[in-house]
Amino acid sequence: MSAPIGNISIDGDRMWATIMETAQIGGTPKGGIRRLTLTDLDHQVRDWFRSACEAAGCTVVVDDMGNIFARRPGRDPALPPIAIGSHLDTQPTGGKYDGIIGVLAGLEVLRTLNDQGYETNAPIEIIDWTNEEGSRFAPAMLSSGVFAGVFDTDYAYAREDREGQRFGDELTRIGYKGDVKCGSHALGAHFEFHIEQGPILEAEAKTIGVVTGVQGMRWYEVTVTGTESHAGTTPMKLRRDALLGASRMVAAVNDVACAHTPDAVATVGLIESRPNSRNVVPGSVFFTIDLRHPSDGVVAAMEAETQAALRRIAAESGLEIVIERVWDSPAVRFDPDCIASVRRAADLSGYPSRDIVSGAGHDSAYIARVAPTTMVFVPCEKGLSHNEAEHAEKTDVVAGANVLLRAVLETDQRLAERAGRGD
Ligand code: GLV
Ligand code: MN
Ligand code: MN
Repeated sequence: MSAPIGNISIDGDRMWATIMETAQIGGTPKGGIRRLTLTDLDHQVRDWFRSACEAAGCTVVVDDMGNIFARRPGRDPALPPIAIGSHLDTQPTGGKYDGIIGVLAGLEVLRTLNDQGYETNAPIEIIDWTNEEGSRFAPAMLSSGVFAGVFDTDYAYAREDREGQRFGDELTRIGYKGDVKCGSHALGAHFEFHIEQGPILEAEAKTIGVVTGVQGMRWYEVTVTGTESHAGTTPMKLRRDALLGASRMVAAVNDVACAHTPDAVATVGLIESRPNSRNVVPGSVFFTIDLRHPSDGVVAAMEAETQAALRRIAAESGLEIVIERVWDSPAVRFDPDCIASVRRAADLSGYPSRDIVSGAGHDSAYIARVAPTTMVFVPCEKGLSHNEAEHAEKTDVVAGANVLLRAVLETDQRLAERAGRGD
């Protein structure tokens, strides 16, 4: 028999200590974390996570994309697990919270259920999804994408970082290419707990964001080619300066987003100029573009405007240009029942909340294709994320973890009743 859900709370001090302990794996002097996917530091945090889950009595399975599944059995092994998933990888100058609190709050949920002797109907599964960030290997959400059937493993293994190292080789190197086929088991539901990474909750003094979906996003890779030539002897009017052209293109990408305010965003976040020598006119430039908007129609319009602007600038500057769309993640709507569970958990716990659409990408965006899914957001200071100074208040993170716990337990009861197996 289950205890009343509203009476169960996580151990906030224990969860916080766990977050701060693992933050040392790849911790930076500025207080952030640099723990890129499939590096030795990722290996180290994975080993830590695996041991912690085993110590909590879980069975741990690694699939052939390196996704880690830590399962606490329920009373009915025939029910698919209710998953709590997020990611332990970070950006190059990442913070201590993005993704990480989602996995570690999941671990705290398991520890709490153990402490309480609480038996769920379905198993509860904590998941560390591989390469959510997409910083080292594009695209983002790669392994939840394979789980959801969006990408196949051959495509994923062939992704290369900027040094030419392949995802598949790096996965093998750190010993996390498991035997289990990615996507071969069903999930009853998937919940992800995350910082908002934007300014809305803080501005409105809301503790909980009830996440109704994720905005659409597309990524591009652009190569601009001109002519390498001598910086001292090539007159200005004879130059084919790829970096000068690319600079105008960067400004044009910004203009496209500004033309679709307030919701559109566009970013050139990575740029490489060759040969990158101070007395050579740059002969070629590689850069990336990230376009986002909650409406797929607007994302498509932004793509068309960006293409047109970049081709016009290339033609005017006598440069060649190749634009490749490397990722398209359409806008997502989460599951109404899971959303309602989060909203109810926030209300019953007395936390102010509001509905919110995620501006950031998350593994939940892909998992929503194969399982009822939603997310729980908490505020972060000044909305700052993908920054070593990223900060969330302990009281908010504890509140969010309690909402996660209660939403998961309510969903467990609902799904078991639906399957005719509840108590
Ligand atoms: C992932 O962090 C993304 O939103 O790009
Ligand atoms: Mn994240
Ligand atoms: Mn991130």
